[in-house]
Amino acid sequence: MLLKIKRGWEIRESAATPEAVYEDRRRLLKMAVAGPILLSGGALLAGCDDAPAQATQLAAGDLAPDPSAKLYPVQRNLRYGLDRELTAEDVATTYNNYYEFGSSKNIWQKAQALPIRPWTVSIAGMVEKPMEIDIDDLLAKMPLEERLYRHRCVEAWSMAVPWSGFPLKALVDLARPLGGAKYLKMATFENPQVASGQKASWYPWPYVEGLTLAEATNDLAFIATGLYGKAMPKQNGTPLRLAVPWKYGFKSIKGIVRFEFTDQRPVSFWEEIQASEYGFWANVNPEVSHPRWSQASERVIGTDERVPTQLYNGYGEFVADLYAGMESEKLFM
Ligand code: MTE
Repeated sequence: MLLKIKRGWEIRESAATPEAVYEDRRRLLKMAVAGPILLSGGALLAGCDDAPAQATQLAAGDLAPDPSAKLYPVQRNLRYGLDRELTAEDVATTYNNYYEFGSSKNIWQKAQALPIRPWTVSIAGMVEKPMEIDIDDLLAKMPLEERLYRHRCVEAWSMAVPWSGFPLKALVDLARPLGGAKYLKMATFENPQVASGQKASWYPWPYVEGLTLAEATNDLAFIATGLYGKAMPKQNGTPLRLAVPWKYGFKSIKGIVRFEFTDQRPVSFWEEIQASEYGFWANVNPEVSHPRWSQASERVIGTDERVPTQLYNGYGEFVADLYAGMESEKLFM
């Protein structure tokens, strides 16, 4: 039963839509947003897979401006350097994994349907004072900065991007977890009306991820709220998206609505689907293969390069200590 689930991660790269096609669709969408008459005409968008659905979705979500746009750009924190060029913005924002909108890489138009205001964030579970906080009030309390991070997907592709956002520790400090709390569980919105992937009942929605509190308060754990000096595009996970660059990309949950402090280790979305392939820790290690492919190297998206993958994705100096003495755990899947 489980093996019948079709995951985009298993799709051959050659089966993905070529970038030139994304660009064409992107151009069409821009024209459509600029002139609703083009949408009502229909013919122009007929080349897109989901033209009629898209027209309705745009009306629902895309036309409202993101009120957080005025917060960016923010100052770059120079502590986090890169060993490679930044990925081109149009590549990082059109080649995405966001199963709520479908299992292909080409979901960026569909994601525009997501309404991002009002957006209420729950801070719950084992905390001194559970709260529901409006996203803009939360952003106003958080110390925003920019960080250049690598991102390594479990599918063996990678990118390097400038996230804006705040250290996850700042949110943990706001939440004031109780002494017994050991884990932070995060969950994505549920809105199958616009996120049609959530109509697929064989997935255990909502998307859930978790970290230990030690990981969540590590300097490197970041909540990204912007990208390339602007508010975060919907397809990359606005308004709150985790960035834990020493772990495989599926840990970096997008569209977060809930932070729950708990003493139980959360079972994450992919772990629930296929625990033999996607675990809780998911730390990057080139020497530990995925059961069905090697993790030794990675394709740098937007280039012709393949580069060797590094232990902890090159962030061992920041995080290796977190795992001292934990050799009996499956740390690398
Ligand atoms: N978060 C949610 N809610 N849903 C998803 O499908 N995909 C994950 C992660 N976060 C995913 C998610 C995976 S597999 C990866 S590699 C990254 O998002 C992709 O982030 P990007 O599209 O910004 O490159």
